Amino acid sequence: MSTSNISSKPAHPTKPDSEDLANPPRRSFLAGLLAAGAAGVGALLALPVVKFVLHPVLANTTEKSWSDVGSVDEFQSLTAPVKKLVQIEQLDGWRRTVSQKPVYVVRDSSGQIAVLSAVCPHLGCSLPWVEAKNEFICPCHNGTFDPIGKLVSGPPPRNMDTVPMKVEDGVVKIQYEFFRPLIPNKEVVA
Ligand code: FES
Repeated sequence: MSTSNISSKPAHPTKPDSEDLANPPRRSFLAGLLAAGAAGVGALLALPVVKFVLHPVLANTTEKSWSDVGSVDEFQSLTAPVKKLVQIEQLDGWRRTVSQKPVYVVRDSSGQIAVLSAVCPHLGCSLPWVEAKNEFICPCHNGTFDPIGKLVSGPPPRNMDTVPMKVEDGVVKIQYEFFRPLIPNKEVVA
């Protein structure tokens, strides 16, 4: 009776584990390279989309445009402030809004046309021109201003605010602005 010689050693011994770790198989290396390449291409393709989505956050939130106030001829012989409603368009992120704001066209101390915001610089009430008193009189806390918007009395901390103005093709145009209330110096907030 013959006995077979069964060996416990494999026919083709594998390499030691330490060697495997030091030299990863070529296939794994290529797979890693491909994955890294795909991730890089994905990131490059996603960049314009990310920029598009973040545009309202990264861009200037409020875009100002010029609004027509009226023909310059209309204001040539001004003797008192004239109230006008101007249409303003604002782009705030993705939102475009159109609204109307009151302003006053006046002649300043040098005889030049100026445009005043009708917002009281104290707490933001709307300022009416009171012809009988020859003053702007704030209905909220009785702040008063002279015909060119200079503070006369009351709690407002400064004169009425002028807005940027230009005359183009015979038309008075303004860039409507919002100002910080309650401070002595004019500061644009939007
Ligand atoms: S809001 Fe005009 S005086 Fe106070």
